[in-house]
Amino acid sequence: MDSASPSATQLKKSDDPVAARQSLTVTDNRTGKSYELPITNGAIRASDLRQIKLDPADFGMMSYDPSFNNTASCISRVTYIDGDAGILRYRGYPIEELAEKSTYLETAYLLLHGELPTATQLKDWTNHISHHTFIHESIKKFLDGFHYDAHPMGMMISAVAALSTFYHDAKDIFSAESRQLQTYRMIGKMPTIAAFSYRHSLGMPFVYPDSELGYPGNLLNMLFGTTGVRYRPNPTLEHALDVLFILHADHEQNCSANTIRGVGSSHVDPYSATAAAIAALYGPLHGGANEEALHMLHEIGSVQKVPDFIRRVKAGETKLMGFGHRVYKNYDPRARIIKRVAYEVFDLMGKNPLLEIALECERIALEDDYFVKRKLYPNVDFYTGLIYQSMGFPMSMFPVLFAIPRTSGWLAQWQEMLLDPEQKIARPRQIYLGYDTRHYQTIDQRKDAPGA
Ligand code: SDX
Repeated sequence: MDSASPSATQLKKSDDPVAARQSLTVTDNRTGKSYELPITNGAIRASDLRQIKLDPADFGMMSYDPSFNNTASCISRVTYIDGDAGILRYRGYPIEELAEKSTYLETAYLLLHGELPTATQLKDWTNHISHHTFIHESIKKFLDGFHYDAHPMGMMISAVAALSTFYHDAKDIFSAESRQLQTYRMIGKMPTIAAFSYRHSLGMPFVYPDSELGYPGNLLNMLFGTTGVRYRPNPTLEHALDVLFILHADHEQNCSANTIRGVGSSHVDPYSATAAAIAALYGPLHGGANEEALHMLHEIGSVQKVPDFIRRVKAGETKLMGFGHRVYKNYDPRARIIKRVAYEVFDLMGKNPLLEIALECERIALEDDYFVKRKLYPNVDFYTGLIYQSMGFPMSMFPVLFAIPRTSGWLAQWQEMLLDPEQKIARPRQIYLGYDTRHYQTIDQRKDAPGA
């Protein structure tokens, strides 16, 4: 028990009636003993359960929470979500205001520093990042080693992990100066790694960063530019990408944020920890869902076939990718904004023919009891793929376009974990239901099961 919270049995009744009520009284019916557990920030400390024992020699009570459905792993001040109300705020600023008025780099600064930057701070921040967009030439050779059809997420995981071998100063994780430098490098280089992975898959020469362009415009340049002719990004696409980057920048303790916190808690360098977070995001239940959602819409094929697909979903044969969320039990506020951005892109690039199928899926899902009862709404991944496809990205690039902006959120979570005096190396407990002691049998003592 840490010294900060008194042990439950030592807790004295407070004179203040309200403070006295800031506790949970639990009775262990096995022993008849009662325990008073302090409530702080609406939660009890799981370690306070350890006093609940049958025998003084016992380890004590644990809480069992597979996939952390109801477990706060940290105290954070970065991002706030109210899943029932469909609220998302970065450092207190509503996502709707940031999407309308901010830029991605300004939002990244906010996530990492806790405040919106002044004009001087933003200029300095932008200059540093735009001067860290190049990657070591050896990384190009490393990327060239991948097969032409390598998934760009696999290339990105590997390349970001490889960055740890170039920047030995990254191990100095408790130096604010080193963390800042690695942050510049990571945010600056992610678009370059993404673009080089894409160009490798096409067998096309790499287009180097152009520090004259803005963050999203430079990515478009490195993806679609041709060597020799200066690329001019279309302002509508550049703005759409910037808004999408703002919407994807952070999302509190999601699977990949939990990953960077867990891996980072071993005090490994930030590149290795970020590579782990990218790997987590790659999964089809997380950031990989935007790619899977497009595959799904292609598989459905027409508006007429939507009812049959929905029937298969309700029968448990498949999932409606891009729907549902662990926290949002209302419309994902990001999906609402993304839908607006989609129409801006379609006005320029032409309507994505899959849009009608997506809208029909949403229409049915918002009415059908299977989805309503389970509070399944479109999430951030449902419409993004339609936009990316209309912008000319192949489906395999969709999760990469999620990883690029999420890097600032990951690093904000990583840094907050490192600086939190309560955080130590992540090491959960388990409930063991395996064999009790048994003894080694030699190979001739082991018999095949009948019919093996
Ligand atoms: C992201 O956590 C974050 O913040 C993530 C993210 C971020 O910004 O970091 O928001 C980004 O990852 C968004 C989610 C992208 N994933 C998908 O769109 C994949 C499809 N969605 C599901 O796999 C699911 O909804 C999850 C993974 C998103 C959430 O899963 P939960 O909270 O564990 O919910 P569950 O799987 O326990 O589902 C509860 C019920 C189940 O039915 P029953 O067993 O009660 O009968 O809802 C059903 C599920 O079968 N269900 C779905 C469904 N999602 C849940 N049924 C059909 N289609 C779906 N998409």
